Amino acid sequence: MKKVIVIGASGAIGKAVSDAWENTGMSVVHLSRPQIDLMSEASIIKAAETLKTQGYFDLIFVASGILHTPDLQPEKTIKQVDPQHLHTLFQVNAIGPILVLKHFAALINPNNRSVFAALSARVGSISDNRLGGWYGYRASKAALNMLLKTASIEYRRTHKSLIIAGLHPGTVDSRLSKPFQTYVPTGHLFTPECAAQHLLQVIDGLSLEDSGHCLDWDGKKIDF
Ligand SMILES: NC(=O)c1ccc[n+]([C@@H]2O[C@H](COP(=O)([O-])OP(=O)(O)OC[C@H]3O[C@@H](n4cnc5c(N)ncnc54)[C@H](OP(=O)(O)O)[C@@H]3O)[C@@H](O)[C@H]2O)c1
Repeated sequence: MKKVIVIGASGAIGKAVSDAWENTGMSVVHLSRPQIDLMSEASIIKAAETLKTQGYFDLIFVASGILHTPDLQPEKTIKQVDPQHLHTLFQVNAIGPILVLKHFAALINPNNRSVFAALSARVGSISDNRLGGWYGYRASKAALNMLLKTASIEYRRTHKSLIIAGLHPGTVDSRLSKPFQTYVPTGHLFTPECAAQHLLQVIDGLSLEDSGHCLDWDGKKIDF
């Protein structure tokens, strides 16, 4: 039986992918706050430690992330750029996921095909940025893409069968997207269940050649 860890399993996409993997007979460990808080390396270390007795995992999926919080809204103009908000977005969206890889890598079988995937976003693509705005969210996802790319090069040496990828789930009906759904063209808002099916398909089809890239929900590479 394949074993997977989902971080951010309390979120819309995290829950939908967890359910979908369980329906295919995979064994799923769900991690969410308070067991793991991406703002705290200590909590990431502790969460990894608790799984050490469970043997190797085939797949680690980071489904957490923020675009807004009660105190933080995506910036429409540079006048709204705030250092503390930038710090929070970077911590949750970029630093947290790479620290998960740092501490959870010991749980990955270095010999079998395995996947470390984190939800990124198309708006983290620098070449695709046509609209501007959302400074912190865009920059934190661009940073995530670079961190994953860099790790993919390093892990090629020790974990020859590990694929590290960022994934864009499409626009998905969730707490994160709720305030911005009026701008989504009709038919372009996926349910979490539909997004999960797309993501499972993309993850199943990943090859070593995809490692270090960010892939769209339909499996196409997104230019950085
Ligand atoms: N929805 C979209 O349209 C869309 C589009 C592109 C990319 N994405 C990406 O997909 C990912 C998931 O988004 P979603 O739509 O499923 O949003 P969501 O329903 O709001 O879920 C967000 C998840 O992130 C977790 N989280 C937030 N802060 C955290 C922290 N400090 N430590 C640990 N976990 C934390 C939340 O945990 P709590 O339940 O504890 O708050 C929740 O599990 C995000 O990375 C997002 O950027 C989403």
